[in-house]
Amino acid sequence: MTDPVQEMKRAVGRAAADRVASGMVVGLGTGSTAVHAIARLGERLRSGQLDGIAGVATSFQSSVLAREHGIPLVALDQTDRIDIAIDGADEVAPNLCLIKGGGGAHTREKIVDALAETFVVVVDESKLVDRLGTVFPVPIEVVPMAVAAVMHAVESLGGRPELRMAEKKAGPVVTDQGNLLIDARFDAIDQPAQLERTLNNIPGVLDNGLFVDLADLVLVGAVADGVPSVREYRGESAT
Ligand code: 5RP
Repeated sequence: MTDPVQEMKRAVGRAAADRVASGMVVGLGTGSTAVHAIARLGERLRSGQLDGIAGVATSFQSSVLAREHGIPLVALDQTDRIDIAIDGADEVAPNLCLIKGGGGAHTREKIVDALAETFVVVVDESKLVDRLGTVFPVPIEVVPMAVAAVMHAVESLGGRPELRMAEKKAGPVVTDQGNLLIDARFDAIDQPAQLERTLNNIPGVLDNGLFVDLADLVLVGAVADGVPSVREYRGESAT
């Protein structure tokens, strides 16, 4: 039996990839939903539906997948534009602010997604929340020597920080940049722009997973009676 969550992710990833046109420079997101967008881009290239695109990877994962699917990659400093970025999210609020970084790639994702002319977010329904921070902690990428100091600073802001530990390796998760991740739980985040700035002002923090005013379009995958569908989310209440 197919997993409905996987079906939603597949449907929405593919729908976003179908918005890409020949010649575009595409930001390639990270995570289990973005994977489907990358695979679909490869499929469209191979079938001749698309040509002349180039991808800008947001992580080691997305660069490996791009190669696997035959998508030519371009470095950020070798392109003067990113036409569209397609990326997942961990939470989407009604004002389209996001929490990202479940895959630990938010620092590079924010650079690429923010530069894109159009940033398309691809999620399944479970990611829609009424208030940011109610389900997911805010990931913070930290230079290793500063971990204890950043944890204290997060606590003094009312957050509950935890060092992200690896599952198939002893010790902490190490990011693609060689840094560590703190997941900071805040009960509900009413002023994400302010919290994003405050966290990024702590010495030792590279960037955090609050994405404020960056999303242009949110596509949501759903499955009803085994039939997948995709809709545009315009910020109505999640409940
Ligand atoms: C990685 C991310 C992902 O886009 C986010 O965690 C969503 O992942 P998934 O599509 O696997 O649920 O921000 O850093």
